[in-house]
Amino acid sequence: MADPLVGVLGATGAVGGVVLEVLVERNFPLRDLIPLASSRSAGTTINFRGQDLTVREATPEAFVGIDVVFSAVDSDISRELAPHAVAAGAVVIDKTSAWRYDDDVPLVIPEVNPGDIEWHNGIISCPNCSTIQMVMALTPVEREFGIQRVIAATYQSVSGAGAAAMQELTHQTAAVAAGSPPAVEILPRQIVQNVVPEVESFRPEDGYTSEEWKMAVETRKIMHLPDLRVSATCVRVPVYRAHSEAITVECTRPVDPDGVRAALDSFPGVRVVDDIAQRSYPTALDASDNDDVWVGRIRRDTSSDNGIVMWVVSDNLRKGAATNSVQIAELLSF
Ligand SMILES: NC(=O)c1ccc[n+]([C@@H]2O[C@H](COP(=O)([O-])OP(=O)(O)OC[C@H]3O[C@@H](n4cnc5c(N)ncnc54)[C@H](OP(=O)(O)O)[C@@H]3O)[C@@H](O)[C@H]2O)c1
Repeated sequence: MADPLVGVLGATGAVGGVVLEVLVERNFPLRDLIPLASSRSAGTTINFRGQDLTVREATPEAFVGIDVVFSAVDSDISRELAPHAVAAGAVVIDKTSAWRYDDDVPLVIPEVNPGDIEWHNGIISCPNCSTIQMVMALTPVEREFGIQRVIAATYQSVSGAGAAAMQELTHQTAAVAAGSPPAVEILPRQIVQNVVPEVESFRPEDGYTSEEWKMAVETRKIMHLPDLRVSATCVRVPVYRAHSEAITVECTRPVDPDGVRAALDSFPGVRVVDDIAQRSYPTALDASDNDDVWVGRIRRDTSSDNGIVMWVVSDNLRKGAATNSVQIAELLSF
């Protein structure tokens, strides 16, 4: 069969732009690419493999002939447009939260649950960025020691809130340097010189945010552990790219840091950087612009039996979004 015709829905956004880069880097076999976005950017051009491609408006009719759609738009737009893409014969690999919790939509990290792709009905969901890096680090621990409880605190970059939030950090940095009051338009509070415990919207029923809720519900679905106890606190920090997470894991069997290091080290896509004698541990800058999930600061949880604490860092736009989506597409046959 001929190489697929690829559509990138949200091609002008933070994730869509990285999808274009990753498709080129991984030499994804495609016969052509159609960039789609809102009417605001229809008619503008984006560069792909040295060619200027004209962005088309994402209308319900825009998917005719497309074999695979990488969807990186808001959830409500995905809810509206993805069914049209599927009806036109495409497989949609969706980065939004629109379909992740539907029972007939697989939620996939290729290193963790590639077999779930088998039962898709046209849409395959890509997990939330904070979930992906956590589950990449939890899976080898689960396979070796079993896990029963997870407590996570995140330190999330502004790119997780899209291209406009990245611009807001730049503008606020310049405003503060100039002694002017920074404008707050996209993120809930001033982000420069700040740490903000509000990522996505609050849930009045339990006081968590939707980002925190996603980390729990998605982890259970991907890992096929419906009873896993997960509690997260998600925090935005003034970093452009890569999310960091402090994760405490309670295992079902006796666990030791060396065993955890060995399990993580042999898991594809995970890079252990953990040597306190050398003050060696991963940071957001280390993880930026590459695909690895970096893990360090692995140590016993002194507050519980069979507990381990670790520090997990990954680029939210790459493994947390674009790379994971392209890896899913690589598992499909066209
Ligand atoms: N950023 C991350 O780290 C990350 C990680 C995982 C998942 N996600 C999810 O990925 C999705 C995209 O996030 P992002 O950070 O890339 O956002 P973004 O930078 O704000 O980009 C949004 C994209 O959606 C397009 N769009 C807006 N309205 C549209 C419409 N009516 N029809 C068609 N396209 C429309 C925009 O096109 P215009 O240029 O025309 O406005 C733009 O290309 C979101 O659902 C987000 O939750 C993001």
